Amino acid sequence: MLRTILTEKWGLLHPVLNAPMANIAHGRLAKAVSLAGGLGMLGIGRDTPEFIEREVALIRQETPEIKFGIGLLGWAIKNEPALFEAALAARPFLISISAGEISPYVQRLHEAGILVATQVHSREEALAAQEAGVDLIAAQGTEAGGHTNKQVSTLPLLQVVLEAVQVPVLASGGVASAPGMAAVLAAGAAGIWSGTAFLACPEANVVDSARQRVLQAKETDTVLTAVYDRANGLPWPESIPGRALRNDFTNRWDGHEKELVQDQAALDELKQATAGKDYRIAVIFAGEAVGLVNRSRGAAEVVQGLSGEAEQLLRWQLASLLGEKPEIDK
Ligand SMILES: Cc1cc2nc3c(=O)[nH]c(=O)nc-3n(C[C@H](O)[C@H](O)[C@H](O)COP(=O)(O)O)c2cc1C
Repeated sequence: MLRTILTEKWGLLHPVLNAPMANIAHGRLAKAVSLAGGLGMLGIGRDTPEFIEREVALIRQETPEIKFGIGLLGWAIKNEPALFEAALAARPFLISISAGEISPYVQRLHEAGILVATQVHSREEALAAQEAGVDLIAAQGTEAGGHTNKQVSTLPLLQVVLEAVQVPVLASGGVASAPGMAAVLAAGAAGIWSGTAFLACPEANVVDSARQRVLQAKETDTVLTAVYDRANGLPWPESIPGRALRNDFTNRWDGHEKELVQDQAALDELKQATAGKDYRIAVIFAGEAVGLVNRSRGAAEVVQGLSGEAEQLLRWQLASLLGEKPEIDK
């Protein structure tokens, strides 16, 4: 078995968290990941407190002691504090707050015995998160799916953050295979925080036509864009656009967001396409690692496959690199 602080202190079987993906990582996915030995995360965007209660009840149904996390968005809980209160009242094992302030929340979470995580994009943000008292930092590179920074990729960011802080650090962005997981663990990450790797799972809240697009997409098929945020009037900071599969809508409007928000016909077209699940126009958030997701596997198979194969690879590669294996074939 792989051993990191997540397995030794937190009691997980595998150092794998599914990223808290709003609209996608509902209770069903979080539960499947936790039951497989990882830490399942429920993703909350602009949802309701009732939604949190319902999905948490589903996770705990028949498994009341299950460990899971809830991922919140900083700007969303600032606008709707009841979301934070509902997450706190659910008493999960971990709460993450990304894309917004964390300091106002850390003390109350710790008083309730809940671990706190956040995603960072630079050394400065990592130091600020550590100063705020978080228990876990996810170093989120620009290749990540969903909303992320425009600048630093996971590998350089991970090295910088590991150098800067003492709290456990997870790699977030671009890891969807055992070699990727082995690489970040060897670099010193305590585990992975992966979203795209779970997008095609039957437990994810994804319709079949979107799943097919994910399965067919290559690593070159994503774009980091603010078109959907501006079109939908969402208050995401300018510095955090979203990485999505490129389509007709992003091809037409990326870089022309000011014109887009004035174009009622285009906004109506997007609304209709979203309702009708027409992904030539509607959004599918996904990271560059989408090129590695080419079959639909259950969440348990993803968690156990990543972790088990990364372990084997590390054993083999390390023995080979350190001269404990006689033959090298490449
Ligand atoms: C579809 C999708 C939705 C996401 N939604 C959220 C979210 O609601 N909150 C959040 O903190 N991160 C969200 N993320 C970002 C993830 O937390 C994580 O950084 C990312 O998935 C890691 O990169 P990867 O997709 O290459 O694994 C989302 C990612 C994806 C792919």
